[in-house]
Amino acid sequence: MMKLLFYAAKDYDKQYFNSVLEKFPEIEIEFLDHELEPRSAVLAKGFDAICAFVSADVGAETLEILNQCGVKTVLMRCAGFNNVETGKAKELGITVKRVPGYSPESVAEHAMALALAANRRLYKAYNKVRENDYTLRGLRGMNFYGKVAGIVGTGKIGAAMCRICRGFGMKVIAYDVYENPDLKEFVEYVSLDELLAQSDLISLHCPLMDSTYHMINIETIKKMKDNVILVNTSRGALVNTQELIEGIRMNKFLGVGLDVYEEETGNVYEDHSDDIMEHSVTARLLAFPNVIITSHQGFYTMEALTAIAETTLQNLMDAKNGIHNENDIA
Ligand code: NAI
Repeated sequence: MMKLLFYAAKDYDKQYFNSVLEKFPEIEIEFLDHELEPRSAVLAKGFDAICAFVSADVGAETLEILNQCGVKTVLMRCAGFNNVETGKAKELGITVKRVPGYSPESVAEHAMALALAANRRLYKAYNKVRENDYTLRGLRGMNFYGKVAGIVGTGKIGAAMCRICRGFGMKVIAYDVYENPDLKEFVEYVSLDELLAQSDLISLHCPLMDSTYHMINIETIKKMKDNVILVNTSRGALVNTQELIEGIRMNKFLGVGLDVYEEETGNVYEDHSDDIMEHSVTARLLAFPNVIITSHQGFYTMEALTAIAETTLQNLMDAKNGIHNENDIA
């Protein structure tokens, strides 16, 4: 039997992993509520593998402890892996696998949902009608039809977003360090500066790396068109939040939709409704009428959860059998 310790397990994790477990008779899972961090890493003693998610601390200290506990495999049940110190894992001989592209449409459709919600102020409209206020003040949006969508990063999710935007009748332009050949019929690649200058909707789909950290800052915001809509479903730190707030104050944006934000670690997936969040930039952002924030839910569809569970458990079997593939990050 392969023993897997599953950190930060939510009810939906248990439901979807348990439902695919029958296909993996050699795997036994123990679910833990606690997040993976150096203090909780010691609990992995006696387990072959651990499973973690986007807010886990999979830094050098955690990996050292996991190694001392005899853990040989780390399974990230997500696509992004900016929270994993891959160099350290390699040094320790710990295999790290992830789930790239479990359901690109799940995230891309959420990006479009945020773009539309911000554009047409659905969050405001919903509350207004609930309060018996049927006026339209504050709800005016723009047509997407005929406008320019600028997609930053055209990997799996960005490509799905390009297709969705084309479906809306938008002209689609993109910026990436590599051009995706699948998109060449309808996507025009431009420089980042050109994308910023031409787009009515900008959606971020590149990974968080040193080269993309704070790529949206006051300088890049100033290069954008007025009345642009900005959507980030990728990673919070692609955007410098303080400077985004400055840009919103300058009236640059028709709307801003964020599924990810810099402050999310420690907040995301937790209920803080009774807490006074003293220094929360999320709260400051939400004070603006043109901002909608969701809590990293891009992956949260039935299809994506099933695919994540299946691939994660398959990754464990592959690690056991010494199979290396594109899911390996260390
Ligand atoms: P992918 O690896 O298929 O595509 C990423 C693309 O970004 C590649 O085409 C790459 O060439 C490009 N890229 C790299 N550096 C760049 C740069 N400096 N400028 C512009 N483009 C650059 O990844 P995928 O599956 O499309 O995911 C994208 C990101 O979405 C992930 O890194 C992850 O952080 C995030 N994500 C968010 C989720 C959510 O629930 N909100 C769920 C899944 C992923």
